[in-house]
Amino acid sequence: MKNICVIGVGYVGLVTGTCFADLGNRVCCLDINAERIEGLKKGIMPIYEPGLAEMVTRNVQAGRLSFTTSYEEAINGPPAEFIFIAVGTPEGVDGEADLRYVRMAAESIADVADHPFIVVNKSTVPVGTGDWVADIIRARQKKPIPFAVVSNPEFLREGSAIQDFLNPDRVVLGSLDREAANKVAELHLPLRTTIMITDLRTAEMIKYASNAFLATKISFINEIAAICEALGADVKEVAVGMGYDKRIGRTFLDAGIGWGGSCFPKDVKALAYMASVHGRHPQLLQAVMDINTDQRRLVVQKVRECLGALEGKTIGLLGLAFKPNTDDMREAPSIEITRMLQAEGARVKAYDPVAMPNAGRILQNVVLAEDPYELAEGCDAVIVVTEWNEFKQLDMARLKRVMRQPVVIDGRNIYEPEMMRAYGFVYRGIGRGYNEHKPGSSNASP
Ligand code: NAD
Ligand code: UGA
Repeated sequence: MKNICVIGVGYVGLVTGTCFADLGNRVCCLDINAERIEGLKKGIMPIYEPGLAEMVTRNVQAGRLSFTTSYEEAINGPPAEFIFIAVGTPEGVDGEADLRYVRMAAESIADVADHPFIVVNKSTVPVGTGDWVADIIRARQKKPIPFAVVSNPEFLREGSAIQDFLNPDRVVLGSLDREAANKVAELHLPLRTTIMITDLRTAEMIKYASNAFLATKISFINEIAAICEALGADVKEVAVGMGYDKRIGRTFLDAGIGWGGSCFPKDVKALAYMASVHGRHPQLLQAVMDINTDQRRLVVQKVRECLGALEGKTIGLLGLAFKPNTDDMREAPSIEITRMLQAEGARVKAYDPVAMPNAGRILQNVVLAEDPYELAEGCDAVIVVTEWNEFKQLDMARLKRVMRQPVVIDGRNIYEPEMMRAYGFVYRGIGRGYNEHKPGSSNASP
């Protein structure tokens, strides 16, 4: 059993702390947000993550997991051997990562730690940040207490965070201090996965390169989707066919309204920023971002193609979160789509199974519905924005009956075009050209 302190109880920190407690360690999670900590002490989760509440309760009851706003308590009582930093690194000016929370955490660690410790950085940070954190701590310590900094980028996804944390494809550790890296590796042994130990900067880069590559895959398939629409091919089938090649793989080839969330947008921008600052020209990353921006516009264009001018039309958004199984609205495509629709004079309604409380704080003048059918009532078009499972099995006849015009723009390709047309919908997916260009149809061309 190791004593661990985790700084930040967001998606990464809370999942990390809870999972390490579940693996038998004693973990104290700390946050400067008193409301979050008070809530956690009462069993109220600050985020929606499947399975998390139950796991937190189990470990609190077992005495392995606790919560505090006090750095002193979290780091010194009992003395934490590992101090994980899992604070936010949001987008700053010009796309540069904003490191103010990491700086605050490093300063607080330096101020209170009264015993040797290992700082393990889980936040996604620009290359070189590990060295910077070490400098901050060294410069601020009142007496020189030995410590090491290890980079341990996190690869979990929201919505499947616990599963991802406990079954990672790999654990990446970066440090100039091999002994410290080995100790952090030991902590991860129960995960029975590949543990790669490298230097600090390389580990930090692995995180950005991985997120940028995944975003590139999605933008690539979205570009292919646009070509499919023009030429009469079906991108869903294309992705399946490509995916059989093990060198390509099927994952992250779902065409749609593009990637959002708290990480891909800021991380691709931050990587491009780092490249530019060092005199490199990140052309590919730029194209990846441009394609993604266009996917949102494309969806609104499809609505316009079906309805004409949007002034006075009512449009329903099926889903608001940036992806299913999360309540996270950060950089959700629904925000930009709402803005564009409203700018053209449309009235926007929305429904999401879990993200509506968060969305209500962000979206202006959007009518929130109780369920998909209430959402569809009086709509001239419905846009599928988030592919929640519950949307895949809707009673389509009922949905059509309550709509003013039977138009469905499927931003996530969850329905089959033929089936939707059989129900009498005007249906548009993303990159599903085959249906418009079937042999014999009036659109068919060689
Ligand atoms: P989050 O915004 O959900 O949580 C961050 C928490 O840190 C907040 O509760 C905040 O109050 C707290 N905090 C900020 N400054 C603090 C300080 N000085 N001391 C104590 N607590 C402080 O963030 P997140 O989504 O968990 O992301 C954290 C980091 O992990 C980011 O760098 C992100 O890029 C990275 N990451 C996120 C994910 C993800 O799926 N969300 C996955 C991998 C990596
Ligand atoms: C992503 C990465 O998958 C994680 O490995 C990483 O740890 C995390 O970012 C991070 O650094 O924060 P996450 O943002 O939770 O995780 O969600 P993903 O499942 O990767 O989806 C990201 C976005 O891409 C979503 O908007 C999703 O709708 C979109 N997406 C995903 C597609 O449009 N098509 C796909 O095929 C896959």
